[in-house]
Amino acid sequence: MQQIKRTTVKTLLAEPDKFIGKEVDVKGWVRTRRGNKNVAFIALNDGTTIKNVQIVVDFSKMPEESLKDVTTGASLHVQGEAVASQGKGQSIEIQAAEIEVYGKADPAEYPLQKKGHSLEFLREIAHLRPRTNTFGAVLRIRHALAFAVHKFFNDKGFYYFHTPLITASDCEGAGAQFQVTTLPLDQLPLGEDGKPDYSKDFFGKMASLTVSGQLEGELGATALGCIYTFGPTFRAENSNTPRHLSEFWMIEPEMAFYEIEENMDLAEEFIKYCISYALENCRDDIEFLAEHFDKELVERLNFVINNDFVRLPYTEGVRILEESGKKFEFPVYWGVDLASEHERYLVEEHFKKPVILTDYPKEIKAFYMKLNDDGKTVRAMDVLFPKIGEIIGGSQREEDYGKLRQRMADQGLEGMDWYLDTRKFGSVPHSGFGLGFERLILFVTGMQNIRDVIPFPRYPNNCEF
Ligand code: 4AD
Ligand code: MG
Repeated sequence: MQQIKRTTVKTLLAEPDKFIGKEVDVKGWVRTRRGNKNVAFIALNDGTTIKNVQIVVDFSKMPEESLKDVTTGASLHVQGEAVASQGKGQSIEIQAAEIEVYGKADPAEYPLQKKGHSLEFLREIAHLRPRTNTFGAVLRIRHALAFAVHKFFNDKGFYYFHTPLITASDCEGAGAQFQVTTLPLDQLPLGEDGKPDYSKDFFGKMASLTVSGQLEGELGATALGCIYTFGPTFRAENSNTPRHLSEFWMIEPEMAFYEIEENMDLAEEFIKYCISYALENCRDDIEFLAEHFDKELVERLNFVINNDFVRLPYTEGVRILEESGKKFEFPVYWGVDLASEHERYLVEEHFKKPVILTDYPKEIKAFYMKLNDDGKTVRAMDVLFPKIGEIIGGSQREEDYGKLRQRMADQGLEGMDWYLDTRKFGSVPHSGFGLGFERLILFVTGMQNIRDVIPFPRYPNNCEF
C-alpha cells in the first residue's frame, strides 16, 4: 500500500469537501456488506463516530474473490479515492483501490452478525458489545460526560482530589463494604476471643474498598477550599436492581464555606451543565439512542435543562405522598426511608420535574450530616430524577466538634480521630454531595438498565472479564 496518512471516519464525514477527489486511507471494522455481481458496498466503522463510511468495490477493478474475507466484524485497511456519494444519508464514499484484511471474523462464529440483538444477549457477550452501535454510542457519551465533569469543576476553580480506594473507615455506615485481606481464608489466624486477628493482616488492621471518598474529601476541602473526587466506588449491597452496581463511579465535590442552599445550587448547575454538554457534543449518538430506545429522550433532556428543580422538605414530601390517595407497595409515614416508588411519584406524577428533597429525619441519614435546630432532621439533600429516582445524595456537614463526636459515639464509630480533627482545628461550615456517574449516564442515554452504561458491570454473581 502507498504511504498515505490515515483519516478517521469522523474527520472524513465532518469535512467531506476537504477530501473529495483525493486519495484517502481508512481503517476499521466491517459492519455490513451488500451488493450485486458487479459491485460491493462495505459499511466500515472505526469507533470514532456512530456513522459508517461506505466503501465501494468495483469488481472490474478488484476481483470479487479478493473480498472473500470481507465479512461482518473483519478489520480492514482501505485506500482509494474519496468521491461525492449518490446514496442517501451520506455525503462521501470511498472508491476502493486497495483493501488489506487485517483480521478475519469467521461468519460461522462471530456473534454480532445481525442487527437488533437484545440488550440481555449483549450483556452475555459484554467483551464484544462495545462494537455495536448502541454500546459505541453509550461509551462515547460516557466519555463526554466524564470530560464535562472535569471541565465543569476545573473552570470553577475546584481541585481534583484523589481519595483512597482502600480504606479502614465506613463513610456511609451501611455495612456494605467489600473486605480487602491477604489473610488465608482457610486458615485464619484467630485472637483470644476466637475472632480473626487482623493485626496479622496486610495493613495490620481490617481494611475495605471504599464506599465513598467523602470523609477524605472533607480533609481536602478544609485545606484547598473546593475539591472534587471522581473515582470508582464499591458497595456490597445485594441489590439486583436496574439502578445498582457493585462497582460504580462517583463524583463527590466538597466545599468549605458552602451552606446547604449553595450546595443545592451547585448540584443543579452541575447536572444541567453535564446534560447540556452531552447534547452539544454527542448529538449523533443521542439521536441514535432516542430513535432506537426512547423517543422522548431529547425532549426530556431539554426539559431538565430548562426548568428549575423543585426544592422540598422531606416532611412536606411525606405529606404529599400521604394525601395522594395512591396505593404504594411500601407504606409511607414520617420517618420512613422513601422507596423508589415514592420518589418517582413525587417527581413523575406530582411535580413532573426533578425534586431536591431536603431535611430528612436524622435516623435515616448518615452520621456526618448537620443537625437542624429542630433536633429531629438533618440538612440532607437528595436530588430525585424522572426514571432514575435518586441521582445525587448530599448534605451540609456537622461542623460542631461536640455534636459530631456525640453522633459518632451513638453509632459506635471509633478510631476516626483524624476525621474529628477537621472539627477540632479551624472547623468551618461546609457541604458536599455525591453524584452516581452511571445514573447520570442512564438519564442522558435513556437506557433502562445500569448494567448497560458501564463497559464491564459488576453485580451479585457476576464478575466476568
Ligand atoms: O447517597 P450516597 O450513598 O451518598 C454518599 O455516598 C455520600 N458520601 C455522598 C457525599 O455527600 N459526598 O451515594 C451518592 C450517589 C447516589 O445518589 C447514587 O446516585 C449513587 O451514588 N449510588 C449508586 N450508583 C450505582 N450503584 C450503587 N450501588 C449506588 N449507590 C449509590
Ligand atoms: Mg443516598
